[in-house]
Amino acid sequence: MRNPFSTMLNLVLGPISHDIGIDLGTANTLVSIRGRGIVIDEPTVVAIDKNSYKTLAIGEEAKKMVGRTPASVVAVRPLRDGVISDAETTKRMLQYFIRQAHTRSWYMRPRPRVVIGIPSAATEVEKRAVRQAAYESGAREAFTIEEPLAAAIGCNLPVTEAGGTMCVDIGGGTAEAAIISLGEMVVSSSTNAAGDAMDEAIIAYLREQHGLIVGVRSAETLKINAGSAIPLPEEFTEEVRGREIASGLPRSIPISTNELRVALSPVVTDIVSMVQTTLQQAPPQLIADLMIQGIALVGGGAQLRGLDQRLSAGTKFDVFVAQEPLRAVAQGCAMALAEADTLKLISSRDSLRKLPE
Ligand SMILES: Nc1ncnc2c1ncn2[C@@H]1O[C@H](COP(=O)(O)OP(=O)(O)OP(=O)(O)O)[C@@H](O)[C@H]1O
Ligand SMILES: [Mg+2]
Repeated sequence: MRNPFSTMLNLVLGPISHDIGIDLGTANTLVSIRGRGIVIDEPTVVAIDKNSYKTLAIGEEAKKMVGRTPASVVAVRPLRDGVISDAETTKRMLQYFIRQAHTRSWYMRPRPRVVIGIPSAATEVEKRAVRQAAYESGAREAFTIEEPLAAAIGCNLPVTEAGGTMCVDIGGGTAEAAIISLGEMVVSSSTNAAGDAMDEAIIAYLREQHGLIVGVRSAETLKINAGSAIPLPEEFTEEVRGREIASGLPRSIPISTNELRVALSPVVTDIVSMVQTTLQQAPPQLIADLMIQGIALVGGGAQLRGLDQRLSAGTKFDVFVAQEPLRAVAQGCAMALAEADTLKLISSRDSLRKLPE
């Protein structure tokens, strides 16, 4: 039965959206409801009991278990490099999030239309797996959209116009760049050099240079607190705790921002070359438009200190971090269905596809 409040609101305000957008990221999953904004923002982690295969926790609670769990509990990150690597766990997680979004929104229909962002390099099989997971999690209709395109929509960039728009999304598993014109991605590239690779680079550096073993969470904290892509006006040091290889004992050492920059440098260089490659493949007319508009950065990795300036120096374009870099993809997904024009343009080019009945 329809919610009477919903019917009344529909009469007063016009139809209210039931579309939800999901940024199913390697690191974080965000759910956005059109007109309401982000309703869920949780790490993409599921804690599972190895013996019974029961889900013990999802999101933040599960992330806290990473590296600290007893042997019978595994904390699974069901996405790798931006695509589903564990279908069953992804489905459990999506089901939970779609249900949560529903309970946090009293007027939302139980079976919403769902748009999910996927990496631009995802194969047809991978896209289908994502739509299938959403469908089996209660979506009435499931669509997929390339993440950089969704991000550009979410940043309110003029994606449907003829002029070129460029968006670079630096996430956990992948960094992607796309140049968009008339609602379509004209050129796109991606690389695995993104947030997770930065964490791995820090872990390898500390092991090789300091004989210290640290966990992924400590490496990520170090990156967020003290990582940078260009020399800082004031360099500083940050303590990191780990286990000394030589003695096997816990030890805490100071790491300078300089050192961290050295550790991160190969990953940052890969991101810069990926953006350069994308620009090299773009039609000259779009390049002219981009010179005026600049390049928008989104994703958690976009927040690495000085990455915008480093990219600007490497491309000679204006580069700016979007207003809500972590939310752009989810918001763009939720907006995609609303904008009839965008939908028409996107669906006619098969970026958004309805799951066959
Ligand atoms: N201030 C910061 N500086 C550097 N990196 C950051 C910062 N804040 C978050 N990150 C990193 O951003 C990454 C997560 O970004 P995001 O949520 O956009 O990824 P995702 O969408 O889940 O991944 P993907 O798009 O690859 O599937 C993590 O690697 C995190 O460590
Ligand atoms: Mg992402």
